[in-house]
Amino acid sequence: MNEKNLQFVLASRPSGWVIESNFRMIESAIPVPGDGEVLVRNHYLSLDPYMRGRMNDARSYAPPAAIGEVMLGETAGEVAESKNPQFAVGDKVVGRLGWQLYGISDGAGLRKVDAGKFPLSVYLGVLGMPGVTAWVGLFDICASKVGETVVVTAACGAVGSVVGQLAKIHGCRAVGIAGGAEKCRYVVDELGFDACIDYKAGNLWADLKAATPQRIDCLFENVGGEIFDTLLGRMNAYSRIALCGMITQYNSAPYPMKNISALLVNRIKLQGFIVTELLPRWPAALKELSGHVAAGRLKYRETVAEGLTQAPAAFIGMLHGQNFGKQLVKLI
Ligand SMILES: NC(=O)c1ccc[n+]([C@@H]2O[C@H](COP(=O)([O-])OP(=O)(O)OC[C@H]3O[C@@H](n4cnc5c(N)ncnc54)[C@H](OP(=O)(O)O)[C@@H]3O)[C@@H](O)[C@H]2O)c1
Repeated sequence: MNEKNLQFVLASRPSGWVIESNFRMIESAIPVPGDGEVLVRNHYLSLDPYMRGRMNDARSYAPPAAIGEVMLGETAGEVAESKNPQFAVGDKVVGRLGWQLYGISDGAGLRKVDAGKFPLSVYLGVLGMPGVTAWVGLFDICASKVGETVVVTAACGAVGSVVGQLAKIHGCRAVGIAGGAEKCRYVVDELGFDACIDYKAGNLWADLKAATPQRIDCLFENVGGEIFDTLLGRMNAYSRIALCGMITQYNSAPYPMKNISALLVNRIKLQGFIVTELLPRWPAALKELSGHVAAGRLKYRETVAEGLTQAPAAFIGMLHGQNFGKQLVKLI
C-alpha cells in the first residue's frame, strides 16, 4: 500500500476550455473505513465528458462539483479493508470514488465485478456506464429496427463505438461520424460499421448523402452543434433521435441551430436521457453486452494515461478528441 493518498480536487471553475490549473493535486492520509464501510484501492479512473459539466456552477441534472472537493468520477479497484459484510478484502469493485488513489465507500453504488472474466478496465467502458448508455439509447430511446439506418456521432469514442457495433449486430446499417481519417478507418475496418464520415474533411453534407442512401431512421447524437444541425436535414419521416450528449458546447457557446423545423416536418421523436437515472435497465444491458464481448462480436479500444498525475492532461485531451475508445487513467 502507498503510504499516502493522492487526490485531485477542483481548484477553480473553467471559463471556456478546461486548463490544468483548474485542478490541484493534494496529498492526504489514507482514509480509515468506519463501521459498514470499505477502503478501496483504485486501479483505474474513468474520464468522461460529463465531468466538464460538473465543473460549472450551473443548474443541471446533477449538482455541480464543489471547489476544493475531490473531482468526481467512476473508478475500478480492489477492496483493501472491509468493515462491510457485503465485501471482502480482494473483491474487485466498480464505484464512484473520484480522482484519487484510495476511496471510502459505504457500499451504496459499489458493484462487484469478475476480473477473471474480463479485464478490470472493461467495466468502466463497454461493460460499464458508456456501454449501457449505448444500449439504452439505441434500443429504448431510438428503438432501432432491422434494416434501418443508424447514424452515431463521436463514433470512435467509448459510447459511439458500441452504438454502431450493436446496430450492426441487430441488422441495421451503421454510419459513424468521427474526427479524422484514422478514426474513420478504425470504425469501418476494425469495428465493422458500414461507413464513417470524417467531419474534419469539410464535406459533411455530401459525404452524409452518399453514406445514407435511405436517409436516417435513428440518430444517436453525442456532439450537437453544426454536425447535429446538418444531420437533422437528413432524417426520415417518423425517425427517432436519442440525444445523449452535446460535447461541442461543453467548452464553448451553444450553436444557433437552423434545422429545428425538420423535427416538425418529419414528425421526429427526440428524447434526451441520462443513463444513471435508468438503473432498472442496467442488468439487461450488461447481460447482452457481456455476451457480445465474450463472443468477440463487440470490440473495444482504450486510451490509457499512466498515473494519477496525468489525469488533467488526459481529460483535456479527451475533450479535444485525442482519445480512441474509452479514456482511462491507470493508477497502479
Ligand atoms: N446521456 C448520458 O447518460 C450519457 C452517458 C455517457 C456519455 N454521454 C455523452 O456521450 C458523448 C460521448 O461520450 P464518451 O464518453 O463516449 O466520450 P468519447 O466519445 O469517448 O470522447 C469524446 C469525443 O467527442 C468528440 N468531440 C469532441 N469535441 C468535438 C467536436 N467539437 N465536434 C465533434 N466531436 C467532438 C471527440 O471525437 P472526434 O475525434 O471524433 O471529434 C472525442 O473523442 C458525450 O457527449 C457525453 O457527454 C451521455
